Amino acid sequence: EVIDASGQILLPGFVDLHTHLREPGREDTETIESGSAAAALGGYTAVFAMANTSPVADSVVVTDHVWRRGQEVGLVDVYPVGAVTVGLEGKQLAEMGTMATGAAGVRMFSDDGHCVYDPLLMRRALEYANTFGVLIAQHAEEPRLTVGAVAHEGPTAARLGLAGWPRAAEESIVARDALLARDAGARVHICHASTAGTVELLKWAKAQGISITAEVTPHHLLLDDSRLETYDAVNKVNPPLREASDAAALRQALAEGVIDCVATDHAPHAEQDKCCEFAAARPGMLGLETALSIIVQTMVEPGLLDWRGVAKVMSERPAEIVGLDEHGRPIEVGEPANLTLVDPRASWTVRAKELASISNNTPFEDMTFPARVTTTLLRGRVTAREGKAVKRTGGP
Ligand code: DOR
Ligand code: ZN
Ligand code: ZN
Repeated sequence: EVIDASGQILLPGFVDLHTHLREPGREDTETIESGSAAAALGGYTAVFAMANTSPVADSVVVTDHVWRRGQEVGLVDVYPVGAVTVGLEGKQLAEMGTMATGAAGVRMFSDDGHCVYDPLLMRRALEYANTFGVLIAQHAEEPRLTVGAVAHEGPTAARLGLAGWPRAAEESIVARDALLARDAGARVHICHASTAGTVELLKWAKAQGISITAEVTPHHLLLDDSRLETYDAVNKVNPPLREASDAAALRQALAEGVIDCVATDHAPHAEQDKCCEFAAARPGMLGLETALSIIVQTMVEPGLLDWRGVAKVMSERPAEIVGLDEHGRPIEVGEPANLTLVDPRASWTVRAKELASISNNTPFEDMTFPARVTTTLLRGRVTAREGKAVKRTGGP
């Protein structure tokens, strides 16, 4: 088969280190199948499925199920993220070794949605990670600083009467875990960096030679808390949308490599969990199908990244962080590869109803963005083309 790619940009398949698929437990909001279709349409060939499912992915039974189901669907490689602790509020380390050596070969552990906040537990997790060559991803939220918090602590939340989520909730954990990683001689990965202060701490830690990496979401690059004026809970997310100055610092940090990569934090929620009062709504927003376009708008158009840089932050760096070696190395002639084709001249308007995700909680509804993924190939097989996921025919 010949694919006409004239006028298009050829990129390595994107890797998302941070996706919430809701299987097992909330298949009414996303399944491994619907989430895989969304990922393929967004140009992704690998996604890391976060551990806060129900049951929690704290055992090999769950992590191997997620991996196998992803392979069965065949649209994207779904790598399960194991939970660091037993249960999300757990006080006890999960048996990471069993998950790491199972069929899924779990390589990243997190309690995303919940910070690993006991410092001794975090320290032990880092030591473990060091021994077994897995990565600990930290949600970075000091829970004692976010009791009741629903929005960024600042003038907007104060005026709107929304309980504030301070920057220190994130930054204190980033600082702490940088130091714990230093002492343990281990690596730590910071999920969804959201403040200018986190950028400064990452700069400092990297300059000390600490093995720390970080991701940023498209929504924290583009949006800020001025969005909250309407009280529309589609804009409620953890960590919260910050101020415009934070978003600018995050864009600069991504351009400079202080923040290593983009991750979506794709977080589907049902209509009934996003309606009514801001405080009662669940946090999180869709991200897989809009990520590339938002990176083009926020990073490529202002000249902060070129297309080479897009390949780096969407594919090569995230692949490197988790040790996926098929990305970022030269592809040999005739070798089946993970590739994404982007039409840089396209422009499209987001309509939740037209997205593959079961849920509709996109904050970008009715917004028009540049550039669009036209084709995705997973090991040489087309998984998405012209806005449609392409299911595999025949056996696996
Ligand atoms: O906004 C968020 N939603 N942040 C998280 O940390 C968890 C996620 C979810 O699972 O919905
Ligand atoms: Zn999180
Ligand atoms: Zn998350």
